[in-house]
Amino acid sequence: MTSPESEGFGEPLVEVTDLEVHFPIKRGVLFDRTIGHVHAVDGVSLTILRGETYGLVGESGCGKTTFGRGLLRLVEPTGGKALFEGSDLRELKGEALRKARRRMQMVFQDPLSSLDPRQNVESTLSEGLKAHGLWGSDGHRTLTEILDAVGLPSSALRRYPHEFSGGQRQRIGIARALVLKPDLIVADEPVSALDVSVQAQVLNLLEDLQLQYGLTYLLIAHDLAVVRHSADRVGVMYLGGLVEEATSEALYEEPLHPYTRTLLSAVPVPDPLVEDDRQRILLAGDLPSPANPPSGCRFHTRCPWRQETRCDTERPVLREITPGHRVSCHYAEDIRDGKIQPHEVRPELVEASEALGAASVQTVTAEIAGTLPPGH
Ligand SMILES: Nc1ncnc2c1ncn2[C@@H]1O[C@H](COP(=O)(O)OP(=O)(O)OP(=O)(O)O)[C@@H](O)[C@H]1O
Ligand code: SF4
Ligand SMILES: [Mg+2]
Repeated sequence: MTSPESEGFGEPLVEVTDLEVHFPIKRGVLFDRTIGHVHAVDGVSLTILRGETYGLVGESGCGKTTFGRGLLRLVEPTGGKALFEGSDLRELKGEALRKARRRMQMVFQDPLSSLDPRQNVESTLSEGLKAHGLWGSDGHRTLTEILDAVGLPSSALRRYPHEFSGGQRQRIGIARALVLKPDLIVADEPVSALDVSVQAQVLNLLEDLQLQYGLTYLLIAHDLAVVRHSADRVGVMYLGGLVEEATSEALYEEPLHPYTRTLLSAVPVPDPLVEDDRQRILLAGDLPSPANPPSGCRFHTRCPWRQETRCDTERPVLREITPGHRVSCHYAEDIRDGKIQPHEVRPELVEASEALGAASVQTVTAEIAGTLPPGH
């Protein structure tokens, strides 16, 4: 996290309320007819504080990338509000939108495909400055300073993406975002395409740059270890919604939402004694289709704590259970206090709706090995 002396540190930088990104599903030979929607992001509310790293996690397809892209208006949200320093990003147009975009940059998962193979590093880095009218006589010096900050020599300017290793390419991707002096960087799985040996180097670089430039990060990852290492606060997404949010410490020490508990029970623990003793809860079935999400609680088709009432009829709201710890589960307190025990889950066979292209959910019987040990 950025040093507390930084201006505005800890104040809300981004405030998102009920953000929705629904993609239309079109069919038809002559005329495109909208026959349904993919509810990729379906009512997410969260705040990102200036100077923090907010980690967003969840399994593949839950809407993490779409949330990041919707926030930056790389895709148009279909509902909700997204404030950046108090102004509504969804209302911005023309010059105002262009200015706001400079302050919010994205780092992508795959550095090779996100860099143009025909452009050398100088051209890649100067492009954004030129587009924003910021290329002046000191442009060249700015580029070498940025390269130095990301640990690359100035001789890299004349070279092309294929001449670099994966880790170096990601450093170029980070430099491209940084050169515009943004406030917010949305880093979408920034290390998942890299060798394990260089992942830590790139994460450490991101941390150093955060301190040096006073950056705020939205760090998207499916790897819980990455988020645990780097994030101050963590939001867990499931099927387009936020199911839990807490400080990184609280989330890993006492996950309260059944989905988070299940995810964390599968994460290996370095201590072999703890590892042997641990009981696992396996997540049953596939992620239901976001084109046809389950009624009530979106997690009810896979939840080992599902109850007869409310779970499949009433969508839970995100509630603060302890200070700073928000959970969207009707029974979070009873589960925490051990008043409700997990049971075997037979995921419902969700009929594949061919018209909607919805994925069917496998019928898998979950082996519920038992409850999680206290504190997990
Ligand atoms: N342009 C699009 N048009 C239609 N559907 C889309 C589009 N982009 C994403 N989706 C769908 O929206 C849902 C969420 O996708 P998204 O890429 O945001 O998930 P994710 O959490 O980033 O997954 P991953 O971990 O695999 O990157 C998926 O079902 C995806 O197929
Ligand atoms: S509301 Fe019900 S189905 Fe949803 S997570 Fe809580 S117990 Fe499980
Ligand atoms: Mg993604």
